Amino acid sequence: MANDILKLLREKEYVSGEVLAKKLDISRVAVWKQIQKLKGIGYKITSDQNLGYCLISRPDLLLPQEIQRGLSTTYIGKKIFYFSELASTNIIAKEKALHIEERIAEGTLIITERQSAGKGRLGREWFSPAGGIWLSIILYPQLSPSYISRITLMTAVAVVKAIKVCTQIESQIKWPNDVLINEKKVCGILTEMSTELDMINWVVMGIGINANIDIRDFPKDIQKNTTSLKETSGKEISRVELLQTFLQEFEKYYEKLKRKRFPSILKEWKLYSHTLGRKIRVDMGEKIITGEAVDINEEGVLILKKEDSELIKIISGTILQ
Ligand code: BTN
Repeated sequence: MANDILKLLREKEYVSGEVLAKKLDISRVAVWKQIQKLKGIGYKITSDQNLGYCLISRPDLLLPQEIQRGLSTTYIGKKIFYFSELASTNIIAKEKALHIEERIAEGTLIITERQSAGKGRLGREWFSPAGGIWLSIILYPQLSPSYISRITLMTAVAVVKAIKVCTQIESQIKWPNDVLINEKKVCGILTEMSTELDMINWVVMGIGINANIDIRDFPKDIQKNTTSLKETSGKEISRVELLQTFLQEFEKYYEKLKRKRFPSILKEWKLYSHTLGRKIRVDMGEKIITGEAVDINEEGVLILKKEDSELIKIISGTILQ
């Protein structure tokens, strides 16, 4: 109901309580109650005795109704679970994906304003205060488990594209999926999935974008390697617009991936690559390997040329420099 009122308030500068009540077939008291509810969420609505209600501004929150308004995707973001605070969107997304009896729709999003226990790759913590974009996307790709690792690279391309479209800022991808601006991390991607023999039960893509966060608010130990879009552009960006653009890009690339058109995505990944052509050190868990990053192959695997010219394939690891 509150959404219907918002819709009507957006159509005209002023709408009277009487008109709202008539159009929605509710009492004027019910209209008033809904208006109070919207004000409680952060919508600024004034009322004039003669003219009625007027929507002045919307809150700077990633509310489902704001994201879905004007979102041109077919299925990504059609259903959104929104929370003002959560431990981790990936945890909730996984719980929902596990519900086989009540299978949640593909493309459902879990979004929160802040996470109290955000998860990073390799069991690390992910600092997630208010002002960022913290979300998870639930997917059921009909691809083989061995093909799906490409989805992380694909998601990074969608993030870079969205940042460029919305803020004109150029960002780069550090293999496999860190998005950097001026060598500092602005976005991280955490892919979690459940597979069985040769099929995927579900995939949860967790995406964290440091949007409107002041750099001094980050923990001291990550400040030097971290940045935010606000920090880079010198002003707050529209999180709703960035998220909408990202979701549109994501759906476009995900459709390509499902049709196994990864090579065309890889071409773009290479254009945005921060890694290729650099001398790097890769932490592979049991050892650290040094060499030049010469290519990423069609499987999304990093090809490293060691000092003795031997080429080695790196399926997973962390680049140290
Ligand atoms: C990384 O280590 O680079 C991955 C970070 C992923 C963070 C995002 S924020 C939304 C989602 N929920 C989480 O708990 N983690 C991911």
